[in-house]
Amino acid sequence: MIDPVRADAPAKLNLALAVVGERDDGYHELVSLFLRVGLADALRVGPGDGGDRDELTIEADPDCPVEGNLVLRAAELLRQHAGRDLPALRLHLLKRVPVAAGLGGGSSDAATALALLAAAWGVPLGPPERHALALALGSDVPFFTAGAAAALVAGRGEQVRPLVGVRGAPGILLLVPRERLATSAVFAAWDQLRPPDGHARRTAETLAERFASGVTAAGLSDTAADLAAANDLWPAAVALSPALAEVRDAAEAALVRPLLLSGSGPALAAIYPSPDDATVAARHLDRDRPAALAGATLIVTDTRTPTPLWRSP
Ligand code: C5P
Repeated sequence: MIDPVRADAPAKLNLALAVVGERDDGYHELVSLFLRVGLADALRVGPGDGGDRDELTIEADPDCPVEGNLVLRAAELLRQHAGRDLPALRLHLLKRVPVAAGLGGGSSDAATALALLAAAWGVPLGPPERHALALALGSDVPFFTAGAAAALVAGRGEQVRPLVGVRGAPGILLLVPRERLATSAVFAAWDQLRPPDGHARRTAETLAERFASGVTAAGLSDTAADLAAANDLWPAAVALSPALAEVRDAAEAALVRPLLLSGSGPALAAIYPSPDDATVAARHLDRDRPAALAGATLIVTDTRTPTPLWRSP
């Protein structure tokens, strides 16, 4: 008998992301400072209704496909790994993290699915197996499987050096433009551009040292300008979506604050010393919304609360 289980699948921000080389397998070598944020999807797993296939339902985001969803892919991989018949399950995913935005929602869902399904089916999964399955699901999945509040991530995404999280509660204002970007397309656009100047890599590594010795919410918020210039995928994302530069310019002018690009985008983020500061800024930006931000979603989160602290209507 399968006991119902449930867990949150939190999103991430890349505070700095350096692309440091191309690999023979088509992927890129990265050095990136990942920060887990509070905003999370929620996954529930329970007994199936007697059919022979796992059933996935998705709530709250019509843009999130069931077909090819990484949660089902995780179930498939785990079945192969177990090498025996396992009962079909019913899976329910509540989506709060915008999809295809650079916030790692799908990767986090996959990591959470691995953990919940292994528990539900009683499939033993040691750290090396969990890591291998995670990487097979996607480059960002090992970060989530590691369960760290922050990490310096390198290689394709498989080298995860856990770091202590931010002290105190930063406020994070997420701005998710309507137009989405495919990660593979952004990396392909990066291949056509000049090599980066090393700022992103230096920022990621310096920030990792600061995290190791303890970084405060206010300290992190003070580095906003450095972080905004520390994503090597920014020129590639803008080459694909010139409107993204207009969104960022308009939001920075209205907020009087630099915004960083998370991952391959298009989600942008501004970091504040407290959730209240971020909420005041978000309300103001929403009320006097520049034309470039039409259709964009604004969400305020911190590093621990799964539901949005504020979300644009
Ligand atoms: O690993 P994942 O499936 O999330 O990657 C999506 C795409 O992003 C890959 O197909 C690849 O084009 C690109 N990618 C990359 N280098 C990485 C991670 C992702 O080129 N380290």
